[in-house]
Amino acid sequence: MRVYSGIQPTGRKHLGNYLGAIRHYVTGQEEARAAGDEAIFCVVDLHATTVAYDPAELRDRTYDTVAILLAAGLDPAASILYRQGDVPEVPELTWLLTAVTAHGDLNRMHQFKEKSAQQRELVSAGLFLYPVLMAADVLAFRADRVPVGDDQRQHIELMRDIALRFNARFGGDGEPREILRVPEGVYPTVAARIMDLQAPERKMSTSSGSIEGTLYLLDDAKTTEKKLKRAVTDSENPPRIVRGPEKAGVSNLIDILAATTDRTPDEVEASLADARGYGDLKVAAADAVNATLAPLRERYAELRGDEAAIEEALAVGAEKARAIAQPVLAEVREAMGVGPRG
Ligand code: TRP
Repeated sequence: MRVYSGIQPTGRKHLGNYLGAIRHYVTGQEEARAAGDEAIFCVVDLHATTVAYDPAELRDRTYDTVAILLAAGLDPAASILYRQGDVPEVPELTWLLTAVTAHGDLNRMHQFKEKSAQQRELVSAGLFLYPVLMAADVLAFRADRVPVGDDQRQHIELMRDIALRFNARFGGDGEPREILRVPEGVYPTVAARIMDLQAPERKMSTSSGSIEGTLYLLDDAKTTEKKLKRAVTDSENPPRIVRGPEKAGVSNLIDILAATTDRTPDEVEASLADARGYGDLKVAAADAVNATLAPLRERYAELRGDEAAIEEALAVGAEKARAIAQPVLAEVREAMGVGPRG
């Protein structure tokens, strides 16, 4: 059972990224290890070139992201952690997969529609092909399970269609051979949806949120505390620390406290039944977030300073990744009639 996921090197990672994805990578790594398999994680620098970006900044953000993953507990000896651009089999497979990808399907992707509307200078062909590159990421490794956010459902469905169509088209006559594994998406169950502290009806986000409303993983403890103390709540009098439709801000703080103390929101509400006001909830949330992130912040500070060591870890990852992807590519080329007879 092979687990695969990819993470964007863009933006500064926040608490929503950590609770929704990064900490699940570490559990995925342990599950894979227990099953005698390796989980695979990719920092997708090639995907980051599909919208306007600064080259020097991309390299820096890629190092930041790798250091965050290592600091969170990904172990390059137990898992495969690689940078997408280090594995040329992936862009090659992207091109080959375009042969079985419908232009009309790509045109229907929500993310393409949204992101292309945001571009000022150029809607790149890369943005259009983004989902094919993502399919190649996963299919090059014959991964079984792909943990992703809810917003990636359409991309996962397309990836499955591409694999099925590839096998049907190139898998031989009669019962088609499974040249490419058809992967399954794994979506967050308890919606660990962390909302913006200043606009709690919106998801916490690197691209659209405010700095004050976003809890960055690398903020220091004081900044985290300040942001939580200033979080939007409501003016109910007397204040009630319960979740509710008219109480988006308070509900979010309860969810944050629950997620960072491994409790259910109901348990958190019960524990604060005697609190005097929202201040108690905010202080408890700040303490819990800081306690959860303290080890990550400490390790990050040690790791990020040593780019040579990060490159070394990535070189090991790239070598392991290419060893898996190369034979898959050889089979794909052979089946498609590309290159010499195998
Ligand atoms: N598109 C994904 C996102 O924005 C990132 C990604 C790229 C990915 N390649 C992947 C996720 C392969 C899972 C598998 O979140």
